[in-house]
Amino acid sequence: MCGIVGYIGDRDCVPIIIEGLKRLEYRGYDSAGIAVLSDGTKEVIKTKGKVSELEAEVAKQGLAGKMGIGHTRWATHGVPNQLNAHPHFNQEKTLFLIHNGIIENYSELKNKLIKKGYSFYSETDSEVVVNLIDRYIKKGRDLAAAVKYALNKIDGTYGLAVMYENEPDKIVVARKGSPLVLGIGEGEYYIASDVNALIAYTQHVVYLNDDEIAEITKDSFTVRTITDEEIQHEILKVEMTEDEITKSGYPHFMLKEIMEQPLSIENSMRGRFITDEGIVKLGGLIGYEDRIARSKRIILSACGTSWHAALVGEYMLEEFTGIPVEVEYASEFRYRNPIVGEDDTVFFISQSGETADTLAAMREAKRKGALALGICNVVGSSIARESEAGVYIHAGPEIGVASTKAFTSQLVVLSLITILIARKRNMDFEIGVELIENLKALPQKVEEILKLNDEIEKIAEHYVNSNNFLYLGRGYNFPVALEGALKLKEISYIHAEGYPAAEMKHGPIALIDENMPTVFIAPKDAVYDKILSNIEEVKARKGKIIAIAHVDDTRIDELVDHVIKIPECHYLFQPILNVIPLQILAYHIAVKKGLNVDQPRNLAKSVTVE
Ligand code: G6P
Repeated sequence: MCGIVGYIGDRDCVPIIIEGLKRLEYRGYDSAGIAVLSDGTKEVIKTKGKVSELEAEVAKQGLAGKMGIGHTRWATHGVPNQLNAHPHFNQEKTLFLIHNGIIENYSELKNKLIKKGYSFYSETDSEVVVNLIDRYIKKGRDLAAAVKYALNKIDGTYGLAVMYENEPDKIVVARKGSPLVLGIGEGEYYIASDVNALIAYTQHVVYLNDDEIAEITKDSFTVRTITDEEIQHEILKVEMTEDEITKSGYPHFMLKEIMEQPLSIENSMRGRFITDEGIVKLGGLIGYEDRIARSKRIILSACGTSWHAALVGEYMLEEFTGIPVEVEYASEFRYRNPIVGEDDTVFFISQSGETADTLAAMREAKRKGALALGICNVVGSSIARESEAGVYIHAGPEIGVASTKAFTSQLVVLSLITILIARKRNMDFEIGVELIENLKALPQKVEEILKLNDEIEKIAEHYVNSNNFLYLGRGYNFPVALEGALKLKEISYIHAEGYPAAEMKHGPIALIDENMPTVFIAPKDAVYDKILSNIEEVKARKGKIIAIAHVDDTRIDELVDHVIKIPECHYLFQPILNVIPLQILAYHIAVKKGLNVDQPRNLAKSVTVE
């Protein structure tokens, strides 16, 4: 978590850094800061709260300069306040550092530094790093060497940037476990946690790898490993437009991203069908299909919303490929010495491609000989680069903290993988064609659902003051119930639980009364009648009911308080449609409560710490 930005060149770095930080706010937004070091200016400004607070303070003080670094924070060590905000500096205020990550051995290092006479003003782990660098400088190293020596002492993760008053024409950056990208301009360089922060200025980038340190002046950069080997990096061109990372007239990124789903779903499948043959082609898996199809087991591992996508994937893959599938929270998988090996294929699903637990789980699976594959949205992200192969979901940048379009695109890609592998095993040509035709029809059906926005907004009005919510679904729609509950919880702070509908009788039914709304996902599928019985059970206990049902369903009308009618599709893809009204419902409830849906409290989009 945390976003870092830096600039060195001939322009005023301050607006560039502030704008970049705003674009990284999805990574954290509890405090922010900037340090400028150029032409006699040496200034650090830090504020509690959002980047807009920092922007106001910077404007008040008239800060300007040609080299600077900035940070937006998601607190790990120490409460969000001005002192704990970055940049951090040494006692003489000659050395300035921004850091994204966690220093695991900070307390041991801090004690050693205190014994050597250092004192600390913050509660952060990061302040230890700047003082450690200071110590090596005082031992006669230059900045880059001091950073290298300091990092050799550190256990943990970092994306960091440092400036030093006595080497005023340079920024030194380093990466391990937290992303860091250099933007290449003409006579200027940018530094950022991800390309969103620099895409307005350059499309040419270098992604640093773990254990690399770069020395950047306004005219050049050099990259070395922490063991001093020089590295030549390819400069890549990023295909992303600024429009993709602005709200384009929508009040929130989340609403924009919900509304973009016809296109993002289309983009996830574009060019990936050979319809006549009922098969799918995924460029990123070429050469691996047979090994996947021969796997004795498939494991899907992820966190958060991506974990819910994995659960849907389990239903799909197991039913259609006949291969046993397991779903694992990445955070559990990595620490329980999992039994995986060469016969297993493990897909790691991550929108950001940077989630620390998912990345670590992937490394563990690779170490044990499993085929480790990525399903990511962010191109060039750590999981995308370190996995043996994989598939991009191509949903486009997702900035709202609550994941929406990435989830539906993850489901599309899991559907594609299901067809790919099932057709290699025992799926008929006709079924392949039928599934592909159904997938192709999805964007139009999503358009139909989005037209229900106003209707869903009216339903939301009834539930703004609810304290609890229950979401129920069965089979393929059980994970949708979990995801619906998570969306509401994340952005409206209403307690919500997702449950398999039939399990309601074993506990949640005790909670039902006239104040407890229940959302039923009730398409006309194999378990439709059973879901209707569950609805009756809630109704008998005076619970309020919202149902997601098929457009031609009239039976449900008398049973529920509100019904959202959506188009039918093959049951395999129904979760892709069913989740959309739940995203819209959560959005409107949160907006009506006056909450910041794009930046909910305590959350961050990219969880790069354990
Ligand atoms: C955070 C985000 C969630 C996301 C999860 C996994 O908790 O707030 O929206 O689902 O991380 O992120 P990933 O990028 O790995 O999909």
